[in-house]
Amino acid sequence: MVAYTKIFKVDPVRPDVEVIRYAARVIREGGLVAFPTETVYGLGANAFDARAVERIYVVKGRPPDNPIIVHICDVRQLELVASRVPEDAYKLIERLWPGPLTLLLPKGPRIPYVVTAGLETVAVRMPAHPVALELIREAGVPIAAPSANLSGKPSPTRGEHVVEDLYSKVEVVIDAGETLYGVESTIVNLLSDPPMLLRPGAYPVEEIERILGKSIVVPGFARGLGEAERALAPGMKHRHYAPDTPLILVESNGYDEPERVVEAAKRIILDHKMKGLKVAVVAYTETYKYYEGLADRILVMGSRSNPYEIARNLFATLRAVDKLGVDVAVIEGVEERGLGLAIMNRLRKASTLKLRV
Ligand code: TXA
Ligand code: MG
Repeated sequence: MVAYTKIFKVDPVRPDVEVIRYAARVIREGGLVAFPTETVYGLGANAFDARAVERIYVVKGRPPDNPIIVHICDVRQLELVASRVPEDAYKLIERLWPGPLTLLLPKGPRIPYVVTAGLETVAVRMPAHPVALELIREAGVPIAAPSANLSGKPSPTRGEHVVEDLYSKVEVVIDAGETLYGVESTIVNLLSDPPMLLRPGAYPVEEIERILGKSIVVPGFARGLGEAERALAPGMKHRHYAPDTPLILVESNGYDEPERVVEAAKRIILDHKMKGLKVAVVAYTETYKYYEGLADRILVMGSRSNPYEIARNLFATLRAVDKLGVDVAVIEGVEERGLGLAIMNRLRKASTLKLRV
């Protein structure tokens, strides 16, 4: 294991060429580099180097049955990682890459099984971030990269989050500030008929269906509900994104009348206060005022009218909860459509208790 980590701050649009060259050499030599993508930070290794990829699992404390996404910078690299690309995949690739869409493809022979956790499929995406694209190009190999957090922790959306989790465990952290979307890529399996959503993410599934001209099955586990052990994206079955502080999620079938959710949340807060516990609430610009004078701490994730803002603040907020010194946190859910599907999936997986009102 490395004793120190080199941290480079770069401009997200025009990163210093010398930094990219240095980091690319580290990748080629079998080291680990944390780098920004448009979704969250990734922890990268040469996708062809089984020993380097093995170290990703060790460093993150990642369960060995959880496969890793391979990142490419050019569609021509597809043939290096996949043995076949279905027609439907090209439809999406043409429209959505580079971007936050990951596709399941039959694994090519050069990808070691440690990347796919023994599966015959490989998850592939082309990230829409200049730093990620230039790093892959300069390294000259596809880069296998999970999110750059300790396993189970909220994904990192800022360089500081990566340093918090991985300092002294990886060779390089490239810090390009805050990521754009704040939630991970959408994962779709086009090898099944009908196609299936394996993880909701930054691209709304409705948009992908429109481009495909067919519907995509959204199983319960993709919404973060039940049947976790049957999850087809193995990573989805583990408790995830979780702060150490117990988190109580208050959801509703509709948020047109936010009072219902607020009233329920206030009751829970009061219950815990009566037991002498310190309570935080995570709310929105529309609702935070209702908790003044009741909750010990109030965090605002954004406006209910702007799911992009909520997604961008989501993981940083979950990390912030642990720094408040409270015993429990209560969080309001959001409408489960568009980007809201990804947000609710993460919130359900992060929470210790879910309540529907
Ligand atoms: O936006 C993203 O996708 C970020 C950035 C860094 O690219 N990456 C990311 O990786 O979120 P990770 O490892 O945190 O999540 C990858 C998910 C896991 O749930 C894993 O089980 C699933 O993808 N996955 C990877 N390969 C798979 C495969 N062959 N079959 C099914 N699921 C797969
Ligand atoms: Mg992850």
